[in-house]
Amino acid sequence: MAKKSIIDLYEMKQRGEKVTWITAYDFPTAGLVEQAGMDMILVGDSVGMVVYGYAGTMPVTMDQMIYHTEAVRRGAPNTYVVGDMPFLSYQQSVQDAILNAGRFYKEAGVDAIKLEGGKRVVPQIRGIVDSGMVVIGHIGLTPQSSAQLGGFKAQGNTADAALALLEDARAVQEAGAAALLVEAVPPETGRLIRDSLRIPVLGIGAGPHCDGQLMIVSDLLGIFEAFTPKFVKKYATLADTMRKAFRDYIQEVHEGKFPTEDYCYRMKAGEAEKLARSVASRKA
Ligand code: KIV
Repeated sequence: MAKKSIIDLYEMKQRGEKVTWITAYDFPTAGLVEQAGMDMILVGDSVGMVVYGYAGTMPVTMDQMIYHTEAVRRGAPNTYVVGDMPFLSYQQSVQDAILNAGRFYKEAGVDAIKLEGGKRVVPQIRGIVDSGMVVIGHIGLTPQSSAQLGGFKAQGNTADAALALLEDARAVQEAGAAALLVEAVPPETGRLIRDSLRIPVLGIGAGPHCDGQLMIVSDLLGIFEAFTPKFVKKYATLADTMRKAFRDYIQEVHEGKFPTEDYCYRMKAGEAEKLARSVASRKA
């Protein structure tokens, strides 16, 4: 399948064709995602929680994001890859935002970057877009400001809150963002934002009306067990499969059942006997 461009994503919105998007953090997973025919990959700062085991996304650094994004790019050369700007890589100044967005392009070959926030990040979005890069906005539950939001909670679930989110969404669009991610809002709010914007509105926990859906790969595969948000559907339970494989391996090693001959290298012809004679003559 040909790699998508931002134009393709617009056209998909116009045709009412849903965009599929998933996170990935490493080379093998990215390769499998590409083989499955996913439209987009997000190298999310959720890597901090699901790979590094942090309690939130705030400790994640630009260098960590670059390492993971490079690996994903190598694994999925023909998929639209989005790099996620980590905490404090863009909040302090427009210059920081441009330089760090540029690192994703120069060092990891992304197709777009994503950053969190509505009106308050308009100058950063403008700066990055004016420098020739593609920005995807992110509003609703924005994990980098979870302390201000009172934790990882649903957003936009009152009429006032939904309208405030719509204002943020419009500000992000007018600043030049090419698409918008909306996280953890009721379907009514997701639909309002989708219907009001020209750009593709992708949702994670934002209901079925969005122009596309994003899932965290470790949630979809059932690997991450620390907590499961309401919007997660597990398409596999790989944690069980992995635990069983680890236990079977331990048991077989303890019982001497692994490795059998099938898993051993062979001596070259005649060399085993030669070795045995040599060892015997040294002992004599
Ligand atoms: O980092 C990430 O994976 C994200 C999603 C939670 C939306 O930003």
